Amino acid sequence: MSDACIVRAITEDDLPMVLAWRNHLDVRGYMLTQNEISLEEHLNWFARVKDDKTRQQLIVLEGSDPLGFVQFNPVCQGGIADWGFYARPGAPKGSGSKLGQAALAHAFKALGLHKVCGQAIESNVASIAFHQKLGFAEEGRLREQKRISDQYHTLFCFGLLAKDWHESQLKQEQPNATN
Ligand SMILES: CC(C)(COP(=O)(O)OP(=O)(O)OC[C@H]1O[C@@H](n2cnc3c(N)ncnc32)[C@H](O)[C@@H]1OP(=O)(O)O)[C@@H](O)C(=O)NCCC(=O)NCCS
Repeated sequence: MSDACIVRAITEDDLPMVLAWRNHLDVRGYMLTQNEISLEEHLNWFARVKDDKTRQQLIVLEGSDPLGFVQFNPVCQGGIADWGFYARPGAPKGSGSKLGQAALAHAFKALGLHKVCGQAIESNVASIAFHQKLGFAEEGRLREQKRISDQYHTLFCFGLLAKDWHESQLKQEQPNATN
């Protein structure tokens, strides 16, 4: 499925589209920072990160249709990176899975990461189920770790090791293999 997807670095031309996604309530309502981001803040963020080789800001496309945004940080061969992601608001059901699978293939093959880590607010049932579906293990919970609008939120921590991801890919390619 992810073979049909393209993962590429975001460019200046993508910035208005990515800002509109990030500010959409379906996305920012689940982020650790939920305030609306101004165009100026967004441009300053991109100016800071675009030449930083340890960070990757990516768009995943299916054909010419953008599925969403993914970032990995910090990135180095054999490294351990956090990821963040959102599907394009209004994208059809299944878009998140394609986005996640393509992004993880990129992380473990092209970037050579050892491990990808994710965090989700406890109320983000979609993201928690999404991480589990993609093969992430829950590695802990940070109780009342994040304060948003005067409410404390517990964070679920997830991790996926490269070896486990490669093994799951082999099983998908050879479902009858015993080892
Ligand atoms: C998380 C997200 C990428 C999932 O995208 P999506 O297009 O809904 O994903 P899919 O339709 O491919 O569903 C993939 C899996 O996600 C989970 N999921 C998606 N929506 C769900 C929901 N409303 N309730 C529970 N689980 C849900 C399920 O495990 C689903 O698999 P299933 O359909 O086999 O049950 C999307 O909801 C999103 O961008 N959310 C806002 C941003 C965000 O939360 N980012 C992560 C911050 S930690």
